[in-house]
Amino acid sequence: GARIGVGLLGLGTVGGGVAEILLNPEERHPLVADLDLIRVAVRNVNRPRTVELSDAVLTTDPSEVVNDPNVDVVVEVIGGIEPARSLILQAIANGKSVVTANKAVIARHGPEIASAAKAAGVYVLIEAAVGGGIPIIEPLKQSLGGNRINRVSGIINGTTNYILTRMANEGAAYADVLAEAQRLGYAEADPAADVDGLDAADKISILSALAFGGTVDRDALPTTGISALQGRDVEYARQLGYGVKLLAVAERLAGQGDPLPLSLRVQPTLVPSDHPLAGVNGVNNAILVEGDPIGRVMFYGPGAGAGPTASAVVADILNIAGIRQASGDQGPVDPLLAAGSWRPCVL
Ligand code: HSE
Repeated sequence: GARIGVGLLGLGTVGGGVAEILLNPEERHPLVADLDLIRVAVRNVNRPRTVELSDAVLTTDPSEVVNDPNVDVVVEVIGGIEPARSLILQAIANGKSVVTANKAVIARHGPEIASAAKAAGVYVLIEAAVGGGIPIIEPLKQSLGGNRINRVSGIINGTTNYILTRMANEGAAYADVLAEAQRLGYAEADPAADVDGLDAADKISILSALAFGGTVDRDALPTTGISALQGRDVEYARQLGYGVKLLAVAERLAGQGDPLPLSLRVQPTLVPSDHPLAGVNGVNNAILVEGDPIGRVMFYGPGAGAGPTASAVVADILNIAGIRQASGDQGPVDPLLAAGSWRPCVL
């Protein structure tokens, strides 16, 4: 098929994982071999890395990636709000589709980015923004579309679940396990975003917008993290037959209306040890979707880290590549993340 040019913004944990897949297409989906990694923006070209890229590919100027005429799809994995937001909007304005793992920017600027994409006729895909390698965005947008969703809940931060699991199983000290989670590439650049529940709050805002429509007032979302939890809290909970999990919940309240009445929250929660979420350990995430008529579905898998997150990023690139090739490179016909799917709603 036609070649698809990929530009990468960021070559950290996730970016490195994406480059690794693109440079080694053997035995993956055949479309991976049609992807060309054209340009990669990094902070420091001299930093040692696991993937080998030529000097012609690397740049320290991200605008060279979003303005490169040979780049069809821009992958944003630098994280944070700015310059990520401006670079995404610039890529869209240049007619490029965008794949991003950046939950912070989508939770706060999703509607703005979606409207820009709709106006430009390009895609913005965000599978990697929630649940690491777990397919959850695409199911909520499409596969579960026949349902009226009542509740989306679960464990959507790998770092805190890793910490809580090791505190429960080994009585490990909070600070030691957090350092280990950073070393393994699970934690955010500023791990306060993980332990204070902010990362989970970003992600549940996104899941809520997809499940129920509407935009979430992200800053009003009630959020409690795990930093005040002590080893003995986890131990006493265990003796009483509970696990402590950082749960994120978005659910419909009784009644109708536009915006729909919803409740959203992130908080450490006592989960009975025979509940399916109690068995979700380590860096794994799990998202329970409750809908009518399907009942309950649980999505489970690795929620953070280079490989799993890169798997989700590449899935989105392949989606766009497949559509471009099928449409004879005329570009997308109908942006999947359309502005219309984000309606205002109250918490
Ligand atoms: N820091 C995040 C986590 C990375 O621990 O879940 C994946 O979004």
